[in-house]
Amino acid sequence: MNPIHPALAPLARAAKDMPGTDLAPILQEALVEKSWLRAEHRVGDPTRYMRHVLYVDPQGAFVMTAITWLPGQVSPVHGHQVWCAYGVAEGELTEEQFRASSGKPVLIDRKIHRAGEVAERDLDCSAIHRVSNRSRSTIVSLHLYGVSAERLTTGINRLFSV
Ligand SMILES: [Fe+2]
Repeated sequence: MNPIHPALAPLARAAKDMPGTDLAPILQEALVEKSWLRAEHRVGDPTRYMRHVLYVDPQGAFVMTAITWLPGQVSPVHGHQVWCAYGVAEGELTEEQFRASSGKPVLIDRKIHRAGEVAERDLDCSAIHRVSNRSRSTIVSLHLYGVSAERLTTGINRLFSV
């Protein structure tokens, strides 16, 4: 059984057609009409950012997750092995973007993404970024990854050392 919240169903349909469809407007709708967001999605893990699986495509084409970021939590600097798109449902998320040069990635931009905003679509797996919660409140972000559930923990990120 793999139920989906009705507010996420259009997003799941669009994700099924990736990478040929523009997810951004549909993702944004889900970030604004966030009846899918449950109290447990605001409960983080004090040791690291926490992933809650919202929906798994039965054919293994994509996974939809909510990520809970407690104040101070930060991702590694990473790129992606699969397409991904994400945005912010609650809070203010900081994203730093890097350019890969010979050797270490170089910081090129820093943005703050607010609730209701689509942050990024990395459809060609070219982005390198670090995502963090530099605010005093919990953040919930909504992510789609073109990966099967079995590969969710190992099949998404390419890590860089900075
Ligand atoms: Fe990422």
